[in-house]
Amino acid sequence: MTLVFATNNQHKIEEVRSVLPPSLNIITLREAGIDIDIPEPHDTLEANAREKAATIAKMCGANCFSEDTGLEVTALDGEPGVRSARYSGDGRSPADNIVKLLGRLEGRNNRSARFRTVICLLLDGSEHLFEGICPGRIADAADGADGFGYDPIFIPDGSSTTFARMSLAEKNSYSHRRKAMDKLVAFLNTLPLKRES
Ligand code: IMP
Repeated sequence: MTLVFATNNQHKIEEVRSVLPPSLNIITLREAGIDIDIPEPHDTLEANAREKAATIAKMCGANCFSEDTGLEVTALDGEPGVRSARYSGDGRSPADNIVKLLGRLEGRNNRSARFRTVICLLLDGSEHLFEGICPGRIADAADGADGFGYDPIFIPDGSSTTFARMSLAEKNSYSHRRKAMDKLVAFLNTLPLKRES
């Protein structure tokens, strides 16, 4: 089966490709010849994921899936959550977002947080949502150079290092995105027909 993955984020593409079974082929937006900045205007990850998938399905007329991810910090009542990408303002960098988040947590004992991913699959016009959650905590300072986004300050439960100090395989063994992708793949495996497209 072939699916278009509605993202321009190369890190997400690598992570998703690394957990796919050989029977599932992912086409990126660039490979599909689509060049747009997909909007994320809504208040929930679910609504953003649905809109992204619908936008791309309309443009390419193919089965596709999208994902939206947020970092939900307990002491900040779930912030930055759905606003994770724009936490420090439009056009700011991941490093700016990290600085803002660490600043907001200064002096707080409760560092618990979780990454939450929502995937929206549009298959033959039907919509299917899958969620993946990775519980963990926010480090005292940024540490590590791998990964992307908030990886340098997120330590998943069961580990003593940040995502940014892990190989892709190690991050996958904990990650929200991998858990949501596992659910998508398990769903596809329940379908009766082997599909070509
Ligand atoms: P979006 O899903 O592309 O909207 O991402 C929201 C924000 O969370 C962006 O700032 C991303 O860089 C960040 N983000 C998404 N997934 C991850 C992840 O797996 N690790 C670290 N940061 C992430």
